Amino acid sequence: MGGNSNIKLIDDNGIRIDGRKVDELRPIKIEAGVLKNADGSAYVEIGKNKVLAAVYGPRECHPRHMQNPAKAIVQVKYNMISFSVDDRKRPGPDRRSVEISKIISEAMEYVVFTENYPRTSIDVFIEVLQANAGTRCAGLTAASVALADAGIPMKDLVPAIAVGKVNDQVVLDLNKEEDNYGQADVPMAMIPRTGEVVLLQMDGHLTYDEFKYAISLGKKACAEVYEIQKDALRRRYVVESEAEQEQPVSVPDQEA
Ligand code: CDP
Repeated sequence: MGGNSNIKLIDDNGIRIDGRKVDELRPIKIEAGVLKNADGSAYVEIGKNKVLAAVYGPRECHPRHMQNPAKAIVQVKYNMISFSVDDRKRPGPDRRSVEISKIISEAMEYVVFTENYPRTSIDVFIEVLQANAGTRCAGLTAASVALADAGIPMKDLVPAIAVGKVNDQVVLDLNKEEDNYGQADVPMAMIPRTGEVVLLQMDGHLTYDEFKYAISLGKKACAEVYEIQKDALRRRYVVESEAEQEQPVSVPDQEA
């Protein structure tokens, strides 16, 4: 977030450097159940971001002192792979990944019916394969689809998106250049069914009116992401089970 408004990121026709309008999302692709060995998984692309989420559990929580006798804990590990960014990222956790893991875990704990699974841990691994700003939102979007894929009861899916300010204009879904040289970055996530916001951060500055407009833009975009999340689960469970039913029954070869 450089806040350098001299760099022109929006042209005179209101078009951004990647060809989008200010209130337009990058192309989004979501697939559920992409990993065989996890209890649940999802793959998400938002523009050039590529993120994978895997869920294990609910399983007995270790170490035991972390167990909660009243409910499950949701442990999230967000990780950026070394080759996911332009400069090689040093492997292993850093302050940023610890922070992102914490906020995603808090958002997920709010939607999962954790009281159904006392003393257990639900483990979510988020791997960023390719990053282009908005990876925490892509990670959270993937995590909730992976939790649903694992069959874990939740209040709702959790779509997430960033809004922000670039060249004095409020914009939706910042790309890397906009994140670097823009004036504000506001990642947010919500529960569409209730309208509750489960993640909201702000880097940079917005006026009160800009903030209100940015949130309304983000809420509308979350509704779009939500439809794509539900579509991914429908494709996995409805379309796949219909295809299985339509498979011709194979008759074993009769021995002569
Ligand atoms: O990814 P997100 O916007 O949630 O988090 P950020 O901390 O605002 O990072 C913005 C972007 O900076 C990332 O998506 C990456 O493209 C880039 N970045 C990087 O190139 N190297 C890092 N060590 C961290 C972030």
